[in-house]
Amino acid sequence: MKIRAAAPADTEAIGRVHVETWRSAYRGLVSDAYLAGLSPAERAARWRTFLAERDPARVLLVAEDDVDGVIGFAAAGPERSGDPTYRGEIYAIYVTPSHQRRACGRELMWAATRRLAAVGFPSMLLWVLDANAPARAFYERLGGVVLRRQPIEIGGAQLTEVAYGWSDLTVL
Ligand SMILES: CC(C)(COP(=O)(O)OP(=O)(O)OC[C@H]1O[C@@H](n2cnc3c(N)ncnc32)[C@H](O)[C@@H]1OP(=O)(O)O)[C@@H](O)C(=O)NCCC(=O)NCCS
Repeated sequence: MKIRAAAPADTEAIGRVHVETWRSAYRGLVSDAYLAGLSPAERAARWRTFLAERDPARVLLVAEDDVDGVIGFAAAGPERSGDPTYRGEIYAIYVTPSHQRRACGRELMWAATRRLAAVGFPSMLLWVLDANAPARAFYERLGGVVLRRQPIEIGGAQLTEVAYGWSDLTVL
């Protein structure tokens, strides 16, 4: 498995990973109808736009397996709400269900945080659903600390998301 910067040609595969991982991780948290309606092509188009903006402070990385191709991805860049302490943000990190728990997520986090540090962000935060216990365990394992909670609506479901912060990216 290797981690590399995503190219436009990867976005179809990223869209597939995005939707299959949502359907697995968020079953029971958001409605089945909402999950069934997710479109890999629409997700791919969003990631194509992200790449096309060519913002040097933002990065889209893929994890690629010799056999299965793109099996995970992560997106990161400047923190979006103007937080005074936590300057970078992981916008998304997803590993396809059949490849989870094999250190792919950890490698993606390391690569994304190295990149954030390289473009001048010494700290970062990310948001995760409060009820997403496996992902929360992952972030806690990597040293994230709970910062705050806020409500979020996904497909008609009223949920809570929690922010994890890393004040020093060198601890990851
Ligand atoms: C969360 C996610 C990115 C983690 O990636 P991963 O490749 O599965 O995780 P890793 O194998 O790198 O795990 C590193 C460590 O985190 C912890 N961890 C990871 N998944 C865990 C789980 N399901 N339960 C408990 N601890 C977990 C473990 O300590 C693990 O080390 P270990 O396997 O040696 O015990 C991935 O599982 C995923 O995409 N999940 C579904 C989508 C999602 O929730 N994304 C985050 C949205 S905010």
